[in-house]
Amino acid sequence: MNDKKKLIAANWKMNGDLAANEALLHAILAGIGDAACDLALAVPAPYLAQVQALTAGTVLALAAQDVSQHEAGAYTGEVSAAMLRDFGVRYTLVGHSERRQYHGETDQVVAQKAQRALAAGLTPIVCVGETLQEREAGQTEAVVRRQLAAVIQRNGHCISEVALAYEPVWAIGTGHTASPAQAQAVHAVLRAQLRAASAQAGRIRLLYGGSLNAANAAPLLAQPDIDGGLVGGASLKAPDFLAIIAAAHGAAVIASGVGKE
Ligand code: 13P
Repeated sequence: MNDKKKLIAANWKMNGDLAANEALLHAILAGIGDAACDLALAVPAPYLAQVQALTAGTVLALAAQDVSQHEAGAYTGEVSAAMLRDFGVRYTLVGHSERRQYHGETDQVVAQKAQRALAAGLTPIVCVGETLQEREAGQTEAVVRRQLAAVIQRNGHCISEVALAYEPVWAIGTGHTASPAQAQAVHAVLRAQLRAASAQAGRIRLLYGGSLNAANAAPLLAQPDIDGGLVGGASLKAPDFLAIIAAAHGAAVIASGVGKE
């Protein structure tokens, strides 16, 4: 049974500006009410200070979109885990497919980044997922298992402190979502791999990401091994993001049996 609090994380990617961020945050905070799930916003690094100030004392936690695998030093352009901590960051995405694809991040680099985040007290949200070509070649399971194995190998007994996001690359920004059954099947594979690595695997939150929106969130979030969502495009529109949060709330109520006689 799935009794973990769900986590809904926004990934703004490289979008926003000071005025638009402020308007979006005001609209989200005005509509949020008593959120029954954990909420995080992964914002571009230059806006961490702005979003930190605007979300202080609210239910919205701050997240980064990336973190350096290095601790400190001559790494021009990089942002360290300690720097993120300075701005009240709680979570950081690690190994998003756009980082893997456009910035050459290997499984090993992703594992190192997760380790740096954990060492600084941040929760890494480690992203895994197959391309369309890999899915069509029947390699989905092998790909996500390989991506996760590197993170488990490097982080050993700390693995229960991470969160994981399954984001099929073919579903990101395309409007094509994995069906609830497809997503659940991969989440079950990941859960089994985590169980083999840690007695605490049951508490690790596995998020689904990839064209998650107001219309498709509820059945995805109701799956037994889907503990939340990582939301790209829909997180930039307050009504859509709020609807996904409401869907997570509904899924949590169903899972806890509240309202049943
Ligand atoms: P979309 O929701 O825009 O498909 O993006 C998903 C994603 O990459 C979140 O990290």
